[in-house]
This record gives sequence, C-alpha cells and structure tokens, in this order.
Amino acid sequence: MSIKLTDEQLMIQTMVRDFSREVIAPSAIERDKKREFPAEILKQLGELGFMGMMVPPEYNGSGADTVSYVLALSEVAYSCASTAVAMSVHNSIVCESILRFGTEDQKERFLKPLAVGKILGAFAMTEPHAGSDPVRQSTKAVRDGDVYILNGTKRFITTGKNSGLVIVTSKTEEEKRHKGITTFIVTKDTPGLIVGNMEDKMGLRASDTTDLIFEDVRVPVENRLGDEGDGFKIAMMGLDGGRIGIAAQSIGVAQAALDATVQYAREREQFGQLISKFQGLRWMVADMATEIEAARQLTLSAAVMKDREENYTLQASMAKLFASEMVNRVTAKAVQLHGGYGFIREYPVERFYRDARVFTIYEGTSEIQRVVISNHIFRDKRTP
Ligand code: CAA
Repeated sequence: MSIKLTDEQLMIQTMVRDFSREVIAPSAIERDKKREFPAEILKQLGELGFMGMMVPPEYNGSGADTVSYVLALSEVAYSCASTAVAMSVHNSIVCESILRFGTEDQKERFLKPLAVGKILGAFAMTEPHAGSDPVRQSTKAVRDGDVYILNGTKRFITTGKNSGLVIVTSKTEEEKRHKGITTFIVTKDTPGLIVGNMEDKMGLRASDTTDLIFEDVRVPVENRLGDEGDGFKIAMMGLDGGRIGIAAQSIGVAQAALDATVQYAREREQFGQLISKFQGLRWMVADMATEIEAARQLTLSAAVMKDREENYTLQASMAKLFASEMVNRVTAKAVQLHGGYGFIREYPVERFYRDARVFTIYEGTSEIQRVVISNHIFRDKRTP
C-alpha cells in the first residue's frame, strides 16, 4: 500500500478484522436467508467504539481518522455487507452531520448516544419521485411557533425500521429550490412518524430498507439541524463522506470474493489438475486483485484528503464510482470462477454478487457520480 499506515490505524484494522471474522462472518449467510437485522452485532460494534468512529471523545466517540474508518468498514463488509451499510450511514452521514452542524444541545442529546451505538441513525432524503434529484422532493415542513410540522413520504431508507432517530430533509420554501431545503433530527418515537413498507430486496437482505411516512409530525425548533435553507448542503456534505463509506464497503466485499475464489481454485480439480493452474483463470484473478488495489488506493486517497480537511468531493465521487463498479465486476468473476457452485446459496460468492449490485445505485448512482466528476472538471478554469 502506498500510504504508510500508522500503528494506531493498523491496530484498528486488526481489531475489526478479528471481530469481523470471528463474530460477524459465521452467521452472515443465515442472517441473509432470514432477513435478520444484525442488532446485536451493531450493539457490540458500538461498545467497541466503531459506531462513532470519527466523533471526538468528548461526545463519546473514538476520535479516529477517516483512514481508520475506511479500514474498519472494509473489514466489516468483508463478512457482512448488510452490517456494513448500517454502520456506514450511521457513522458517515448521521454522526458526522450532527458533529459538523449540530448545536451543543443536539450533540449532547443525540450524538452522545449515537456514538456508542445506543441508538442507530438513519438518513431520509430520497422520496418515491425524487431519487437522483433531491431538490424536487415534496416533503414539507411548515413552521408553527416553536415547532415545524412535517408531512411527506421518504423511500428506500436504510435502517428505516431499526433506527432510533432519523435526519430528514424537507422543503421549507418551495420557490428557493435547493436553498429552500432544511434538515431536522426526528426521533422515531415522535407521533405521526410511521415506518412503512419494508422492501424485499435482491441483496443486503439483513439490512432493513423502508418507507418513512410523516403525518403531521411536530418537530421542535431545537431539533432543526443547521439553519433554514442549509439542508441541501448538509445532505451533500454528508453524502461526500457517505460515498467514501460505500467505496470502503465495496472494497471489503470484493476482497472477500477474491479470497473465496482463490481458496476455491486451490481445491477444485478439473481436467486432472487444480483449476488454479489454468492460465485463463489465473489472469482473471490477477485482474480482480489489481482492480481491488486500485479502488483501495483511490478510497484511501479520498480519506486522507478528508482528514487533511481539503475539499474531497471529487475524490469521494471517483472512489465511489470506481469501487462500486469494480466490486460488480469482481463478484461476477468470482461467481464465474466457482462454476455451478457460484450459483448456489451454500457458497458465499452468491451473496456477495447480490449484495454488490446496489452499490452503484445508492448514495448517488454511477451516473450521478459522473455528473459530479465532470462538473468538477469543466468548472476548473484550466480545462479547455
Ligand atoms: N458539498 C457542499 N456543497 C455542495 C455539494 C457538496 N458536495 N454539492 C453541491 N453543493 C452545493 C453547491 O455548491 C450549490 O450551492 P450554491 O448554490 O450555494 O453554490 C448547491 O449545493 C447546488 O448544487 P448543484 O447546482 O450542483 O445541485 P444540483 O441540483 O445540480 O444537484 C447533484 C447536484 C450532484 C446531482 C445532487 O443532486 C446529487 O448528489 N444527487 C444524488 C442524490 C443522492 O446521492 N441520493 C442518495 C440518497 S442517500 C441513500 O442512498 C440512502 C441510504 O441510506 C444509503
């Protein structure tokens, strides 16, 4: 690896790797089959300091850097991508947004329990008719004295059912487009907040993805995150960090697919020899490993830039784009290299392939990442 990891980063990586392989991996296939949310595992990750990784210790967090976070999330995803997505949304979008934009009171009330995993966080921006274009969302927040009254439906919300609070975006001024969007922290026990349909998904089946319906939900003014009109920026900045998380998740799943394939190729014989001896298959494995390493470097580079407090929007989108497309290629090859066994539930590559499919879709599709990247290129005055 080109960046030299510190002793602390290496220690975190080893600790999560051990936990992931000993505690998370053994039951991952069963959880996927039963669509069982990894509540107990996330609780333990919270106790170990992995649910508020980049939150400073004064708010109960671990005060770790983004590089450590990438390493940890990849290790969790290696065993269970469903656990990793809940961990990613919670750490990257929820905790970091409250840390950056929350008041002291909000940090006290919400960030502290989030950072130890006492409650889980969700982020609700997508709606049935507003996915890639969140400016056209129709959830509305109308101020009434000391409260805002929220009405609308959010869709595809990760941890929608099992979260304790949700950061929700809504329109406060229709005509102002993105400057008319405001974010609120809403606890799940707030009257009028209903958990709707739980999606029956192709992959990430142990993670819950639901509608969240807001029916005259009264949110106190002190739960508004940032100022009125700051919501779009808060969401976009949260998604920058979130996209590094999805890239890390992609790397973990891809590495798991590669390792399973190498192990299989070392055991499986055809035509009187191990299939690992066939050059055609060896070259596929070489391409898989090279692509994973490229994604890892791109993702760590974005993480380093974030840790240096540089603008990393471009690098986060590049990492998310490349890593999520990479894991789809790698898991497809892993299934292919397993032959018929790659197509059945007993072998983990079948799950990796299904789980990876959504990575090019959520937290900004590949097409949206290309919009972000090309906008940056053409905005640069040096580009002809
Ligand atoms: N950081 C800070 N500010 C940003 C920003 C960023 N990364 N990106 C945009 N902004 C600001 C711009 O500077 C601009 O502000 P000013 O007017 O003050 O200059 C404002 O936001 C509007 O920017 P754009 O004109 O670029 O906005 P746009 O409407 O053209 O949209 C977009 C840009 C990139 C397409 C954006 O809409 C986008 O990212 N869409 C995808 C949404 C997405 O990722 N959805 C997934 C939801 S989460 C999820 O998947 C669920 C889950 O739980 C896993």
